[in-house]
Amino acid sequence: MKVTVVGAGAVGATCTDNIARKELAEELILLDIKEGFAEGKSIDMMQTSALLGFDTKIKGCTNDYASTADSNVVVITSGLPRKPGMTREELIGTNADIVKGVTENILKYSPNAVIIVVSNPMDTMTYLTLKTSGLPKNRIIGMGGALDSARFKYYLSQELGCSPADLNAMVIGGHGDTTMIPLIKHATWNSIPVTQFLSQDQQEKVVSATMVGGATLTKLIGTSAWYAPGAGTAAIVESILRDEKKLLPCSVSLEGEYGQSDIAIGVPVVIGKNGWEKIIDLQLSDDEKAAFAKSADAVRNMNDVLSF
Ligand code: 2OP
Repeated sequence: MKVTVVGAGAVGATCTDNIARKELAEELILLDIKEGFAEGKSIDMMQTSALLGFDTKIKGCTNDYASTADSNVVVITSGLPRKPGMTREELIGTNADIVKGVTENILKYSPNAVIIVVSNPMDTMTYLTLKTSGLPKNRIIGMGGALDSARFKYYLSQELGCSPADLNAMVIGGHGDTTMIPLIKHATWNSIPVTQFLSQDQQEKVVSATMVGGATLTKLIGTSAWYAPGAGTAAIVESILRDEKKLLPCSVSLEGEYGQSDIAIGVPVVIGKNGWEKIIDLQLSDDEKAAFAKSADAVRNMNDVLSF
């Protein structure tokens, strides 16, 4: 198996590191536009292989798309990260051109790849990648829900005093501070509804903290986070390469599901060797349905900034 990660910034490099440590691929290509940057990070990671005991070959390159040929999975992390006080949406102008160019280059060498989009604003970049590539919709996956759900589980575990691994919880909708929908009423602690243990105030606190989870870290660190985004992306790569059929919320193109069309937005999907294989229909309450429709409107308005 061969995986390419485009963009050797913090998220791309962390994702590459996770994929290598788990030995998900024989060959990993890390590509960046900045001269020497991906080569340097790849050599640094390869020098951990003797210490950590993994066998994946990581090769860094500067804009050499021929090296990415015949990748099974391509991860796009290119573009600017947000700075403190910025929304993900403010990145649209710069990142749209970058993501479009990367998609065109990737397609020339890996026409059969599954593409995972991480660049922000992620739902719009996912839809842009779908439209630019003309690939079947199942092969374009936006990474946001896996990350937001991990953050949701973290905040729930803090409030419950439990292990995040014992929690089942999902965030659907757009990957934005005001558009994501942490489904607290569906969340369980080893199959017991978390609402049984948390007051209304505690539930609201967890939901709010989750929604601004990325912004909180950006403020603390000074730039966008990378450990959880890298791990969230690697989890999707793993489910594809090992055909695990994991159920993860991801941004995918909807054609009537959840009452939406012509948009990519986060819904629960089964991820396997063909990309996203099935959309799972959740029984949403009227409030949750209204929140999803509002989130979809916000994502659609963002898409309208670009002409598809
Ligand atoms: C985040 O929320 C990178 O959008 C990503 O950290």
